[in-house]
Amino acid sequence: MKYKFDWKEKIKDEELEKVIEIIKSDRLVLVPTETVYGIAASALSDEACKKIFIAKGRAQDNPLIVHVSDKEMIIRLVKNVSDIEEKLINAFMPGPFTLILEKNDVICDTASAKNPTIGIRMPSNSIIHEIIKKSQIPLAAPSANISGKPSGTCIEDIFEELKDNVDCIIDGGECKIGIESTVVKVIDNVPTILRPGYITEEDIRKVCGNVRLSANLFKKVEENEKVESPGMKYRHYAPKTKCVLVSKSENQIAKINEILLEDENACVIGFKEDRDLIKAKKYIDVGSKYNLEEVARNIFSALRKVDKENVDLAVIEGVEKEGLGLSIMNRLVRACENNVIE
Ligand code: TXA
Ligand code: MG
Repeated sequence: MKYKFDWKEKIKDEELEKVIEIIKSDRLVLVPTETVYGIAASALSDEACKKIFIAKGRAQDNPLIVHVSDKEMIIRLVKNVSDIEEKLINAFMPGPFTLILEKNDVICDTASAKNPTIGIRMPSNSIIHEIIKKSQIPLAAPSANISGKPSGTCIEDIFEELKDNVDCIIDGGECKIGIESTVVKVIDNVPTILRPGYITEEDIRKVCGNVRLSANLFKKVEENEKVESPGMKYRHYAPKTKCVLVSKSENQIAKINEILLEDENACVIGFKEDRDLIKAKKYIDVGSKYNLEEVARNIFSALRKVDKENVDLAVIEGVEKEGLGLSIMNRLVRACENNVIE
């Protein structure tokens, strides 16, 4: 890393020029978005996008999301936008929403992993927005983490992991949302959620009248299985420490305490309200179970804390798979590598 810029208070003009110079010379910048931090590079350049894959240790067949500043830029990058796709764009962009569209040749093959489609996202975070708008370069940016690890929602969590792999780090403070965008593809005229996120099934139903969840959201997918989204195949969000997720049920807390009796050297990721009911020596508080937005904001940092606790097991308190809870559970099931107690 050559540069570290602090833009928590405001975007600094001279430093913005430097960032644009770095992007134009096909190098990498760690940038905040409203969901999670991203490792960004020009989506127009194979050379730049190849560096992202190397920095993350990312599988070659897993395409990147391309970030844009406005609708005009979308039109420049894709072949065709149907009426339903236009409705989704108008309703959810800018914001934590990614739409898979048919790409044209402007976007490089490395960004799309040679797929005919590309994920397009228009972030609402002002820092990444300004960089794209001022440079007029669409930015390919996956979540800022080594592949397989939890996504990064503040610089402190990912600095050590990524400092040698990027040219510039921009600190924009904590991400407002904390889990990644909802990824949607319109299949046979029905918006289909390939990755749940902050925008929920209900939000999409209200706009389109119709929505489907991919069948693979909670399934363990094999390496050679054909899926709608390559990201579904890979290990994700997992701490090094073994994790077990205890689903929401009437005796959820009793089940957690049972596990803790058997395993003395375990920690718990749980809610503020249950701290005194759960007999854990080490407790990582993710916020209130009545405030899922708070839980979403804290979940990746909590998963990252597990490996620092020096325990041999992390027991995680699950939430109902509804609304934002569905997205949180999607991340947790993967973090536990499907080790779930119903
Ligand atoms: O909130 C976000 O989306 C963050 C911030 C940085 O914008 N980005 C992000 O990117 O989460 P990434 O690369 O970590 O996750 C992108 C997901 C992967 O699961 C990938 O497989 C899927 O989107 N994806 C990307 N392009 C696709 C395509 N053309 N078809 C199907 N799935 C795609
Ligand atoms: Mg990711």
